Amino acid sequence: MAKYHLYCTSCGREIESFGQWFAEGQKCTCGCQRAEARYFADYAKLPELCSRKAENLFHWFDFLPLEHRENIVTLGEGAVPFEEWKCLKDYAKQKYGIDCTPLVSRSDLSGGTGTFKDPAAALGASLFKEWGVKHFCAASTGNTATAFSRYCAEADVKFTIFVPCDVSPDTALTIMSHRQDLRISQGNYADAKKEAAAFSMQTGTLMTAGNIDPIRVESKRTLVFEYLRQIGRMPDVYVQAVSGGTAPIALDKGVRELNAQGMDVRLPRMILAQQDTCDPMVLGWEKARSEGFPEGWEKDFPSVTPRTSISILSTGTPGMFPIVAPIVHKSGGSFVRVKEDSLVELARWIHENTGVIPGPAAMVCIAGFLKALEEGLIHNGDVVSVNMGEGSERNTGFRKAVLA
Ligand SMILES: Cc1ncc(COP(=O)(O)O)c(C=O)c1O
Ligand SMILES: [Zn+2]
Repeated sequence: MAKYHLYCTSCGREIESFGQWFAEGQKCTCGCQRAEARYFADYAKLPELCSRKAENLFHWFDFLPLEHRENIVTLGEGAVPFEEWKCLKDYAKQKYGIDCTPLVSRSDLSGGTGTFKDPAAALGASLFKEWGVKHFCAASTGNTATAFSRYCAEADVKFTIFVPCDVSPDTALTIMSHRQDLRISQGNYADAKKEAAAFSMQTGTLMTAGNIDPIRVESKRTLVFEYLRQIGRMPDVYVQAVSGGTAPIALDKGVRELNAQGMDVRLPRMILAQQDTCDPMVLGWEKARSEGFPEGWEKDFPSVTPRTSISILSTGTPGMFPIVAPIVHKSGGSFVRVKEDSLVELARWIHENTGVIPGPAAMVCIAGFLKALEEGLIHNGDVVSVNMGEGSERNTGFRKAVLA
């Protein structure tokens, strides 16, 4: 018997498996590219899984859309321990009198490529193996490129990747080291996306459907399981730097899934941060908030020309806003803006206190946590998941600036 089926989120049509999903070009017959998995798993097994140590994403195999364990491609990704950072806790207490528990997740402790996208790439490569997909393509601002390059290489899948012209040289080198097919656009991320779509059409190569891709969402939603495993409950607040917003979409999916099983889990208040040099979601949110969230507010968002040097957070046209912003709204959270020119100084402070040098996107998350405190969005007693992400290993420029 199948472990799961996919269901189109627009028309509800059942798609039997990823095999059918891939065969139909990763979209429903209604044109929708968003589908969610429903599992025939025994959710009563969750407490037992939560009581055990997890080695990687596939600790949650029963709750992932992969039929056979022999197709697992893993490099020890996911399942990173949440770290209680005293400097953040003390800062909240000393500056704002707030007693909270910040729990930091570091992708640099994850296996694979140490990026935000390793769980998605691990599940992706496993599904490609299961369904005989031999070539995949994507446009990416950096981390999807890095992660899929490595995991596809592990699964013997050719990966053609379109990146914007400002891709960090470290990222480009990593991709090439996996001997994948790197195409550097003359233009920005939007141009790279167009080039990837044209390539996919012309060659019939499957392409990632972006932030709503069920591969990404189903893998990333295991964060909900990790909360239950590691802290026994959902955090009260979730902080992340946002570009597209896969994790908020995935957390929402995971929470709805468990509640549909009769469990009582609550979506954390989502605090999504953008740097002032590329902040279209914050702008859209501020407008909606100032107008009292009128009917259709989520469809009203601006495009900006990114002025940021953080290429992985450079989505100028936030096509995901209509999906992500309502999740933030229903969670009782907010978007916040941080200053890109404050990040190096802040990273020095983090380094002095923790020994860790986060990457620039990770610093947007940390700055977002501080901003949320300043705006009164974090309350006494809150457990705050600070989903920081990557270290600075693949951004030597930022690393040097922090150490200067
Ligand atoms: C550290 C970090 N934070 C945030 C993001 C943004 O993720 P998303 O595009 O899903 O919003 C990324 C993307 O790779 C990341 O690496
Ligand atoms: Zn449909």
